[in-house]
Formats: sequence, C-alpha cells, structure tokens
Amino acid sequence: RPRAPAILLLLALLQLYLGGSKINCATLPDNNTDVLWLPTFRHGISSDPSGWFSSWNSSANHCLWRVVVLEHFGLNLAGQISSSIGNLTFLRTVNQSTNGFSGRLPPMNHLQKLEVLDLSVNRLHDSISDAIINCSSLREIDLNTNFLVGEIPPKVGLLSNLSLLRLCWNNLTGIIPPILGNITSIQRLGLAYNNLTGRIPNEFGKLTNVWRLNLGGNRLLVGFPWFLFNLSKSLQILGLESNMLNNTLPPTIGNDLPNLQELYLNSNMFEGQIPASLGNATWLQTLELGNNNFTGEITSSLGKLSKLHLLYLGFNNLEAIESQIWEFFSALTNCTSLEALSLYENQLHGAIPNMIGNFSRSLTKLYLGRNNLLGKLPPSIGNLGSLFSLVLEDNNLTGTIAQWIGKLTQLQILSLQANSFIGTLPSSLGQLTQLTYLDLGNNKLGGPIPPALGNLKQLSLLDLGQNNLEGNIPIQVGSLTSLYKLDLSSNNLTSKIY
Ligand SMILES: *[C@@H]1O[C@H](CO)[C@@H](O)[C@H](O)[C@H]1NC(C)=O
Ligand SMILES: *[C@@H]1O[C@H](CO)[C@@H](O)[C@H](O)[C@H]1NC(C)=O
Ligand SMILES: *[C@@H]1O[C@H](CO)[C@@H](O)[C@H](O)[C@H]1NC(C)=O
Ligand SMILES: *[C@@H]1O[C@H](CO)[C@@H](O)[C@H](O)[C@H]1NC(C)=O
Ligand SMILES: *[C@@H]1O[C@H](CO)[C@@H](O)[C@H](O)[C@H]1NC(C)=O
Ligand SMILES: *[C@@H]1O[C@H](CO)[C@@H](O)[C@H](O)[C@H]1NC(C)=O
Ligand SMILES: *[C@@H]1O[C@H](CO)[C@@H](O)[C@H](O)[C@H]1NC(C)=O
Ligand SMILES: *[C@@H]1O[C@H](CO)[C@@H](O)[C@H](O)[C@H]1NC(C)=O
Ligand SMILES: *[C@@H]1O[C@H](CO)[C@@H](O)[C@H](O)[C@H]1NC(C)=O
Ligand SMILES: *[C@@H]1O[C@H](CO)[C@@H](O)[C@H](O)[C@H]1NC(C)=O
Ligand SMILES: *[C@@H]1O[C@H](CO)[C@@H](O)[C@H](O)[C@H]1NC(C)=O
Ligand SMILES: *[C@@H]1O[C@H](CO)[C@@H](O)[C@H](O)[C@H]1NC(C)=O
Repeated sequence: RPRAPAILLLLALLQLYLGGSKINCATLPDNNTDVLWLPTFRHGISSDPSGWFSSWNSSANHCLWRVVVLEHFGLNLAGQISSSIGNLTFLRTVNQSTNGFSGRLPPMNHLQKLEVLDLSVNRLHDSISDAIINCSSLREIDLNTNFLVGEIPPKVGLLSNLSLLRLCWNNLTGIIPPILGNITSIQRLGLAYNNLTGRIPNEFGKLTNVWRLNLGGNRLLVGFPWFLFNLSKSLQILGLESNMLNNTLPPTIGNDLPNLQELYLNSNMFEGQIPASLGNATWLQTLELGNNNFTGEITSSLGKLSKLHLLYLGFNNLEAIESQIWEFFSALTNCTSLEALSLYENQLHGAIPNMIGNFSRSLTKLYLGRNNLLGKLPPSIGNLGSLFSLVLEDNNLTGTIAQWIGKLTQLQILSLQANSFIGTLPSSLGQLTQLTYLDLGNNKLGGPIPPALGNLKQLSLLDLGQNNLEGNIPIQVGSLTSLYKLDLSSNNLTSKIY
C-alpha cells in the first residue's frame, strides 16, 4: 500500500526521441537493470548509417527510465538484435521493422508485458523455436519477410490474445499447426509464401474473427477449405493462390462468403465450372481465378459485381461460343468499376462483340490473347480511352487495323501478333506515344511502314516481322533510341538501313 505512489510514478511514461528512433521509458525502481542493457543493444549494431546511436552512451541519461517502447523503423540498421533485449521486462512494443538485422530471434520469453513485436523486413534466420511463445500479452506478431526456417512452433497457438500473426515470405516448412485454430481472437493471419505443406487445418473454421487470411504461395493440398464458410460474417480477404489445391469449388461459395472483397485462388489445380454464386458476393473487388483448369461456360452472374476492379480468368479452359461471349460481355458492362480483365488462353470461339466499347471507362488492361476469336476488331474499342494494355495476340482476327486505334493514347502495350490482320498500318499509330511494346508481327499487313512510328520514342520492342510490308524503312525508325528489339524480318522491304 505505501508504495502505491511509486507504482503510479512508474506508469508516468516518458517518451524520448532520437531522430527517427524512439524509446519510451517509465521511471526507475532501485533495481532497474535496463541501464545495463542499452550499451549492449548498441554493441550488437554493426551498421548505423544515420548515426542514431551515437548519442547512446553511458553518460546519456536514458537509463533513468524503464524501456517500454523500442522503435527503430527503417533506419538501415544492421547487425544483431542483442539478446539482452530479453531482460527488458517492461517492454510493451518492439518495432525494429525494415532494417538489416540478421542473426537469430533474440530470446524474449520473459517479456510478459510485450504486446507488439514487429521485426518484419529484416534478415533474421534460424527457427522461431521458443523465442516468443511465452509472451502471453502479445497482440501482434509480425515477422514477415525474413529468412526464418523450420516449423511454426505449435505453442504459438497458446498466445490467446493475438489479433495479428504474420509470418509471410520466410522459408517455414512442415504443416500448419492445427492449434492455430484456437487463437479465436485473431483477425489477420498471414502464412503466405513459405514452404508449408499438408492440409489447411479444419480448426481454422473456429477463427470467426478473421477478416484477412493469406495462405498463398505454399504447397497446401486438397480441395477448397469449405470449413472457412464458418467465417462468413468476418472474412473479407482470402488468399489461397499458388498452392496445390484441387477439385471443384463449392457451388455455394459466393453465398457462404458474402463479405469477400478479394479472392485469390489462382495458380492451383481447381477444375469444373466457376460457381454462379460468386455473383452474390457483391463486395468483391478482386477475383483472381487464373491458371487453374476451370472449364465450361463463364457465368454471366459476375455481371452483378458492380464493385469489381480486377477479373482474372486467364490460363484456364473456359469455353464460349459466340452467343455466350455476347452474353458474358453484355453482363460485364454492368461492372462499372472494372479496371482489368483477363480471359487470356481460354477457349473463346467467335467474334468480339461491339458492346465491348461499353465496358467500364476505367478499364486499363484487357487480355483476350490465345483464344479463337474471329472477325474484325470492333471500332468501339476506341472508346476505352484508359487502356494501357491491349493484348489480342494468337487469335484469328482479321480486317484492318483502322485509324481509331489512335484514340487509345494511354496504350503502353499493344500486341496483335499472330492473327490475320490485313491492309496497311494506320498512321494514327504515331499518336500512341506512350507505347513501349508494339507487336504486330505474323499477320498479313501490307503497304509501307508509316514514318509516324518515329514518334513512339518510348518503344523498347517493335515487331512488324512476318507480314507483307513493302517499301522503304522510314528513316524515322532510326530515331527510336529506346529499342532493344526490332523485328522487320520476312517482309518485302527495300532500301538501305541507315
Ligand atoms: C525489483 O523491485 C521490485 C519492487 O521493488 C520487485 O517487485 C521486483 O521483483 C524486483 N525485480 C528484480 C528483477 O529484482
Ligand atoms: C555521450 O553522449 C553525449 C551526448 O551526445 C556526449 O556529449 C558525450 O561526449 C558522450 N560521451 C562519450 C564518452 O562518448
Ligand atoms: C539478463 O539478466 C540476467 C540476470 O537477471 C543476467 O544473468 C543475464 O546476463 C542478462 N542477460 C543479458 C543478455 O544481459
Ligand atoms: C529456402 O530453403 C531452401 C532449402 O533449404 C533454399 O534453397 C532456399 O534458398 C531458401 N529460400 C529462402 C528465400 O531463404
Ligand atoms: C484448443 O481449444 C479447445 C477448446 O476450444 C481445447 O479443448 C483444446 O485443448 C485446445 N488445444 C490445445 C492444444 O490447447
Ligand atoms: C520446399 O521444401 C522442399 C522439401 O523440404 C525443398 O525441396 C524445396 O527446395 C523447398 N522449396 C523452397 C522454395 O524453399
Ligand atoms: C486432389 O489431391 C489429392 C491429394 O493430392 C488427391 O488424393 C485427390 O485424388 C485429388 N482430387 C482430385 C479430384 O483430383
Ligand atoms: C444468389 O442469392 C439469391 C438470394 O439469396 C439466391 O436466391 C440465389 O439462388 C443465389 N444464386 C446462386 C447461384 O446461388
Ligand atoms: C482439365 O480438365 C479437362 C476436363 O475436365 C481434362 O480433360 C484435362 O486433362 C484437365 N487438364 C489438366 C491440366 O488437369
Ligand atoms: C445489368 O444491368 C441491367 C440494368 O441495370 C440489368 O437489367 C441486368 O440484369 C444486369 N445484368 C446482370 C448480369 O447483372
Ligand atoms: C482462321 O480463319 C481462317 C478462315 O477465316 C481459317 O481457314 C483458319 O483455319 C482459321 N485458323 C484458326 C487457327 O482457327
Ligand atoms: C515482293 O515484292 C515484289 C516486287 O514488288 C513482288 O513481285 C512480290 O510478289 C512481293 N512478294 C510478296 C511475298 O509480297
């Protein structure tokens, strides 16, 4: 009781700023040992280009306080994090993110007050082992982007106050410990881009507060984790991309995860149809299903996704005959926020409908290459004035490339190669001054090369090979100083090369 005022004094926190670094301290009891720690920490640092620690010496009076917050974000510090940090038992926040710290995770199991540990984007290696698993107050652990190896210690699952656990971009192996499903307080869980294998544990169905779950870039097996439907109220971002998940998607996925905003299932082995229920997940902004083996008709229900920004369905076996292309494109005109659409390398057979010109005015990327698209290019594509990538290569498109192409003044990438385009090159190509990549090779284009191509000063690739172009190579082509690839082969060009 008589000591109560002293305890209050202890809680009177002081903050000390040393340039970009920050130490928070509480006042000192007689037996404080934090004073002994500061030089040790400094000693561990081998590189300090900005000199933040030059004022840390034994005569500096930081040692009058308890160290409560230790924050050195993005200071290019290198060396080791001194293991004496494990004696700073008053620490609540450690943020040493985005430096060059190497070595092992320091032992921190005595830090019972530690709530936030952010050592992300460093060069820490070795295993997580037992370094942190007794810190029962931890709310946030971020060890993203290091070189940690070994398994995820199951005891992490006993940290029952965690709301954030991010271990992405390391080299962790083994299975995902099912006991992580006991951390029901967790809201953001990231284990992506490691080397984890096995199944996603059914116990994850208990994580009903998770709104962001990133498990992509591992070697996770078997089908879609249906038990995540228990998270229907919370789950907004689900990343399962680049794994080995197979089988069909649950037909009710869009009804059972109605709050999804971002869904990444690309680069797996999913098959079967794209479920029509996805059209009911009306908050979806990003839908990435590319590089799987989805087959059959593309559901027009995706047209109900008015918030959709990105729809990637490329590298699948989706099929559509002309009337189905018409129906699907017509539905997509309702997606008024659409910025990127890929149907690259699928089985679309038929003409590109003119209504493509009614797609969102925000559309910047359109990839329809490697299908069986026929007929002429609708001039309405000229309405899509925000396009910066237009890739229609490897189809069977014909007709001329008309002057309207010059309306797409934002274009950086234009590939129409390996089609059956005829006629002459329009001079309006010279208006596309942002182009870096222009590939019109392997068509049936004739006539001269327009001198206006000399305006395209950003070009790094110009491929007009395997056509029937005639006449002189305009001297202006010689002024394209950014070119690294120029292909004019297999034409009927004459004249000297200057
Ligand atoms: C420091 O002193 C406080 C009270 O004065 C005591 O509770 C605590 O156990 C002591 N800590 C150590 C490491 O001796
Ligand atoms: C310690 O740091 C203070 C403040 O930067 C400086 O004035 C003093 O000379 C330093 N002492 C030693 C021994 O480096
Ligand atoms: C931590 O404190 C203990 C005594 O409490 C001491 O023996 C040990 O050397 C300290 N560790 C470091 C790294 O300072
Ligand atoms: C991960 O570990 C493997 C095998 O031990 C090694 O070849 C690879 O370079 C490591 N990758 C990273 C990012 O540390
Ligand atoms: C996980 O939680 C369940 C109850 O939700 C409990 O029965 C089980 O023992 C816990 N697992 C561990 C390893 O603590
Ligand atoms: C993943 O682990 C396997 C087996 O342990 C190993 O052969 C492979 O190199 C690892 N992959 C990476 C990217 O580290
Ligand atoms: C999915 O993968 C698992 C594990 O590799 C395999 O046993 C199963 O037969 C596969 N299922 C399908 C439908 O391909
Ligand atoms: C979409 O939701 C509506 C209303 O809940 C429902 O009637 C319909 O069956 C759902 N569509 C699909 C394809 O599941
Ligand atoms: C994709 O699915 C089709 C039809 O189900 C099947 O014939 C084909 O073998 C599958 N391709 C791959 C790479 O799994
Ligand atoms: C697109 O919007 C129109 C008009 O709002 C509506 O009649 C039509 O059903 C919608 N199509 C789809 C696929 O949502
Ligand atoms: C392209 O169309 C022509 C005729 O329009 C046809 O002869 C040819 O087989 C088609 N090529 C492909 C690859 O479909
Ligand atoms: C190339 O031009 C010559 C002369 O102009 C013409 O005779 C010949 O047919 C042309 N070849 C091709 C493949 O167009």
